[in-house]
Amino acid sequence: MVGRPLGGKTGGTTDGKTDGKTQGLAPAHSGREAATPESAFSLRIAASPHIMAKSFSSMEDSNRSSNLSIHEVSDPARRLVLRAGGGLTLAGLLAGCAVPGSGGGSAATAGATPGFKPVPPSTADTVVVPQGYVAQVIAPWGEPVGLLGAVFGAGAGAGAGAGAGTMPAWKPDASNTAAEQAQQLGMHHDGLHFYPLDGTGRRGLLAINHEYVDDGLLHPDGLKTWSAEKTAKSQAAHGIAIVELARQADSSWQLVRPSRYARRITANTPFAVGGPAAGHTLMRTAADPEGRTILGTFANCASGQTPWGTYLSGEENFQGYFNASDRPTAHEKRWNLRKTDWYRWHRTDERFDTVRHPNEPNRFGWIVEVDPMDPASTPVKRTALGRAVHEGAWVAVTKDGRAVVYSGEDARFEYIYKFVSRDRIRPAGNGLTAAQANRELLDHGTLYVARFDAEGTGRWLPLVAGEGPLTPAAGFADQGEVVIKSRQASDLLGGTKMDRPEWLAIDPRTRWVYCTLTNNSDRGRGDFPAADAANPRAGNTMGQIIRWLEDGDFDGTGFRWNHLVLAGDPANERAEARGNGRGDLFACPDTIAFDPRGMLWVGTDIGSRAMNQGEFQRIGNNALLACDPATGEMRRFLTGPVNSEITGATWTPDGRTLFVNVQHPGESPSERSDADAPTRFSRWPDGDAAQRPRSATLAIRRTDGGMIGT
Ligand code: FEO
Ligand code: CA
Ligand code: CA
Repeated sequence: MVGRPLGGKTGGTTDGKTDGKTQGLAPAHSGREAATPESAFSLRIAASPHIMAKSFSSMEDSNRSSNLSIHEVSDPARRLVLRAGGGLTLAGLLAGCAVPGSGGGSAATAGATPGFKPVPPSTADTVVVPQGYVAQVIAPWGEPVGLLGAVFGAGAGAGAGAGAGTMPAWKPDASNTAAEQAQQLGMHHDGLHFYPLDGTGRRGLLAINHEYVDDGLLHPDGLKTWSAEKTAKSQAAHGIAIVELARQADSSWQLVRPSRYARRITANTPFAVGGPAAGHTLMRTAADPEGRTILGTFANCASGQTPWGTYLSGEENFQGYFNASDRPTAHEKRWNLRKTDWYRWHRTDERFDTVRHPNEPNRFGWIVEVDPMDPASTPVKRTALGRAVHEGAWVAVTKDGRAVVYSGEDARFEYIYKFVSRDRIRPAGNGLTAAQANRELLDHGTLYVARFDAEGTGRWLPLVAGEGPLTPAAGFADQGEVVIKSRQASDLLGGTKMDRPEWLAIDPRTRWVYCTLTNNSDRGRGDFPAADAANPRAGNTMGQIIRWLEDGDFDGTGFRWNHLVLAGDPANERAEARGNGRGDLFACPDTIAFDPRGMLWVGTDIGSRAMNQGEFQRIGNNALLACDPATGEMRRFLTGPVNSEITGATWTPDGRTLFVNVQHPGESPSERSDADAPTRFSRWPDGDAAQRPRSATLAIRRTDGGMIGT
């Protein structure tokens, strides 16, 4: 998701007030004026104004800690900035930025070369893939997931027989009820992962995140009225779906329904709590005085898979669902909890009113773990991994078998984390599946925040209660409080404030870890943090991909880093928007994942208000690109429909099917669709029959059955 700026209607500021940082930026931007340095910051409006709906992230700017000074002190390039100003410095920074293979040693030498003919930039309301490929829509919003005991086409509560659910058919006018939505695929698909059910990979499960909703599309009359039923439907359209699918004789993929694995996890599904925040006083509420059972997950953004077969999902922009006081506490302020009416849940569900239930927001922002193979299992919030506006989480394994979980916080000037498990991963056995054998693995270990130093080195700083500045006097009574207040702890430790960390990917061949930093147009603006070595561009509308190699093993506390690429368009007038990319143009990297043969794939998330305008004019709709990490050359593989984001990428084990999500096709630049004209911007995927656009999963394969991307 793209982030949205403060101000306007959302992000916690329904009263139209801003935090003072974004005031004056509101003037509508045509996106076509010359990209002078002065206009760079108005471009921010085009680049990330989006926002509300999905990501308050970019609008947050809640990090006012002063720990950036480390770069100002230590970074020679930074001192150059201070002396000479932006443009000149940028050239120097770019020159020093590692193009693949430079600096940092033998990065990504394994690689794999794309073998398809790239598709051109597109502004069309359709999905385009290379010649010789087909893209099939398999799981759009509103399709029944196929709960066991269901009867296809029956309405909620009718005809289910076994009472285990129904398969309410999608109603194109959005008149499905909340109860029906809870049995259907949710809205606005994001991360996803494929779990094979047999050795052939022709049957499997997809776990799919449903990140957020557009209430203008979700209800027949949009936001013209509000009710408890609308709150319930919105909550039911969030969360995670598990669906079963099978490859057919003609090689197409179809959902298997009903399926014993089919499941919906929503904003009201009970979760257990693992790790140091379980039972903590800051996690206790009137409805859960023990602080150990939390209803629901939402804002589920990116996905990761564990070696023991479970699914990890990041609770990202949770803060936008809570209506806080117009005088937030310091803790609330640091987490950007503000007065807001964007999602309206608080109107009919009082737990989203933080004045009445101030601890409820502490129960979100976690990485959640789900066992997709066991539909009866209770999902768990893994608090040892820290609390953040979490994009997602990705697992590496040390040579002695411990899990190292990387994660990032998609908000401006927030942090990158890693968690090292205390214990080794256990194999299945003694009647336990691997998932069951490791059900407490992520509850014990050490959490670190990353500091990127200027000379291409970095340190992992431990977030441990009682160590360094994390004392009771500083507000950290115990490890539970440290993880609940990970942001505040990272501020004190001096973590590096990044340009919105999104997905991470670990190259199993080279052990380099990659992270997309999608953009940060506030970088260097006013009294916001200036450019630094890792985040080298002021007014960063385009984003970059950073990567590092740990010293020793994945549990190392030091690392070497460089940039795979700074995104942009060399034709742009503004130096900071040109980048140093090779191959096809792209901007705002978000999804990043390695395929089974070692090729790196990158999905993009340019905001709807910026797409195809101004500095983004030549880049086209959001896309999925393939990259040989050994050369850094990008090749555009797929372009999405109008105003969509391309997100998530997962493959069958044989690499012959790629599943990827198209999120928010037809998104309105205002972030909310007009219920009277829901197809104003897109009719994808239903075409002429569309009554509204729908997020959906694509199954992509080659017509000759070959491996994707070769
Ligand atoms: Fe949900 Fe940061 O994208
Ligand atoms: Ca994004
Ligand atoms: Ca994302």
